[in-house]
Amino acid sequence: METTLAIVKPDAYKNGHAGKIIDRIIEEGFTIEEMKQLLMTKEKAEGFYAVHKERPFFSELVDFMSSGKCVVLSLKRENAVAKWREVIGATNPEEADKGTVRALYGTNTGNNAVHGSDSAENGIIESNYFFKE
Ligand code: RTP
Ligand code: MG
Repeated sequence: METTLAIVKPDAYKNGHAGKIIDRIIEEGFTIEEMKQLLMTKEKAEGFYAVHKERPFFSELVDFMSSGKCVVLSLKRENAVAKWREVIGATNPEEADKGTVRALYGTNTGNNAVHGSDSAENGIIESNYFFKE
């Protein structure tokens, strides 16, 4: 079994989509190992996306992720990382396949409804970042 971290980002939370996204997680065969609602500080968001700190969109990303409540979930499933990324779709909701979470609930590349880990290793690191404090 593999671990991935999912986040219902502030846009999806604010727009009332958290429940539907959590339902989808369960329908897709994931086990929710951990789940919490939180308002990230800027420092927490900066640490989470530290890999992007040299990118031009970093400050916008940190401001967005700390702009409202999120739901953070540690998920387990066979091939959890690839499966969750398949379910959420492309980073830009306009390019995401029909029926994916980002196509359904995302607005644009910055406000794209959900996060998914990009490797099994990061799935564990990111889960520990929120659930082993
Ligand atoms: P995530 O980490 O949130 O699951 O998204 P991702 O893997 O699909 O995309 P990534 O390249 O890791 O980028 C992280 C988040 O940064 C924002 N972003 N904005 N304005 C831009 O060009 C831009 N590019 C990326 C997005 O919110 C993306 O999810
Ligand atoms: Mg990423």
